[in-house]
Amino acid sequence: VAHMFEQGPLAGVRAVVTAGPTREPIDPVRVITNRSSGKQGYAVAQALSALGASVTLVSGPTALATPPGVQRVDIETAQDMLQASLTAAAQSDIFVGTAAVADYRPAQAEMQKIKKKDAEMSLPLERTTDVLKAVREKYPVLFMVGFAAETEKLAEHAQGKLQNKKLDLIAANLVGNGRAFDREDNALHLFWPGGDQELAPASKTALARELAQVIASRYRSKVG
Ligand code: CTP
Ligand code: CA
Repeated sequence: VAHMFEQGPLAGVRAVVTAGPTREPIDPVRVITNRSSGKQGYAVAQALSALGASVTLVSGPTALATPPGVQRVDIETAQDMLQASLTAAAQSDIFVGTAAVADYRPAQAEMQKIKKKDAEMSLPLERTTDVLKAVREKYPVLFMVGFAAETEKLAEHAQGKLQNKKLDLIAANLVGNGRAFDREDNALHLFWPGGDQELAPASKTALARELAQVIASRYRSKVG
């Protein structure tokens, strides 16, 4: 089989990457979603694969081609992403959550199109499950990497998520006001328990390669 011939620092290592947005149905024609092109996540999947890992990409709806050699599982809702991630993580060593998962979904998806009325309307929402937290709880020895998209207080929020989700590494970036979303370039600040490293602004592809190198070296220093 192909992976026997893979070379590189992650040869023989299995990785799962979540990417893209999720879509939570309101009714048959409307959804709640997030601004995510999936570009950063697809680039991370490709970069890990290039280092020799065998990669499963759990992807929300995107307009992107599957990177060569990567196995892709398509999902739509946060709940689908949770199920697909738990399944894929069972046979994995590294888990990287780059997806922009909806934090809330409509408490009830309507079966018929909601008709407009001449009045305000509100929509009851319920929390979705945190995919990273659920995967971490079920698989305590996985090497877990998260992303944090923040509009302010980058270090504070990222370090909070690192601890709260019991991650091994978090890649934080500033979003909003024309930064990151729907763009080719990005900048990442990496945090791990006891350290950090800034990756200078570069293309999402170049940043993904740098991030994959850091993941590989921190993974090796953790598990050998
Ligand atoms: N994440 C996840 N499942 C969710 C929400 C987020 O796995 N239901 C993951 C994302 O893929 C990302 C990390 O958690 O790797 C951080 O996501 P982010 O939206 O920045 O943080 P939240 O914990 O959702 O907090 P908030 O949106 O309030 O900033
Ligand atoms: Ca969120």
